[in-house]
Amino acid sequence: MAKFQDKVVVVTGGASGIGASVAEAFQREGATVAVLDIRLPEASARSSAVRYHECDVASETSVEECFDTVLSDLGSVDVLVHCAARVGVSAPFHEVTAEAWNSYIDVNLTGSFLVSRAAASRMVANDTAGRIILIGSVNSFASERNAAPYASSKGGVRLLTRSAAIDLARYGITVNMIAPGPIVTPPLEEKFATPELTRIFDRVMPGGKPGRPGDIASTALFLASPEAAFINGADIVVDGGMLAQILN
Ligand SMILES: NC(=O)c1ccc[n+]([C@@H]2O[C@H](COP(=O)([O-])OP(=O)(O)OC[C@H]3O[C@@H](n4cnc5c(N)ncnc54)[C@H](O)[C@@H]3O)[C@@H](O)[C@H]2O)c1
Repeated sequence: MAKFQDKVVVVTGGASGIGASVAEAFQREGATVAVLDIRLPEASARSSAVRYHECDVASETSVEECFDTVLSDLGSVDVLVHCAARVGVSAPFHEVTAEAWNSYIDVNLTGSFLVSRAAASRMVANDTAGRIILIGSVNSFASERNAAPYASSKGGVRLLTRSAAIDLARYGITVNMIAPGPIVTPPLEEKFATPELTRIFDRVMPGGKPGRPGDIASTALFLASPEAAFINGADIVVDGGMLAQILN
């Protein structure tokens, strides 16, 4: 029997990049997968086995409605993998507008709260020993130039993970964060192959190159598996050793 045969897995941000790879991995392992994303793929690019729902993770109403639909269609929420985020750099710190700041905090931090609360409340009500997996970043630990809104939002996701983990442990629910380093997703393929970025990766990545979406998907599969039942409130850094290095 496939590992997640009888499980309902909600993947936010599953229309693209890492989320799409996570959705595909759980589907391959037999799960019923619901993707929640603000921008759904063209009908021709969708998998017939996946349920797609248009959802803005920064909107409480949108998130609650989507989880109600998933629950009434599929009967439970067993696993949440929250990948949706506003990514990218903004401006030097002294030029960051309040609007830019709020847009990262709304989507990345408040969105993580709204989505994990929506999953957790339904898991508790249904007596489901569920798994909540939030996608942070190496920027949950260290920043870079022009990244104050993104890095601050991702730092917040780290403590949100721990706070939720503590409160939900008595219900048999675990909450963990995966912190990816640079991952070559299809939308980033061209950018990551430029000579400038190739040089940067050669310097900052101990192995000289970025990771692949499957590196994050396999970690999510592990955290959702019975073998990971005692891992809770943890940060799992999946970065090829990037954060381990201070100088090269
Ligand atoms: N790719 C990397 O190098 C990398 C590195 C570290 C962390 N991450 C994290 O991994 C996760 C996935 O990143 P990715 O590279 O696959 O990005 P991506 O841009 O390819 O995918 C993000 C998805 O989130 C969706 N989304 C954006 N705003 C939304 C909203 N308000 N509501 C619902 N959906 C929304 C987008 O439509 C998109 O499908 C993010 O949390 C990102 O911060 C990525």
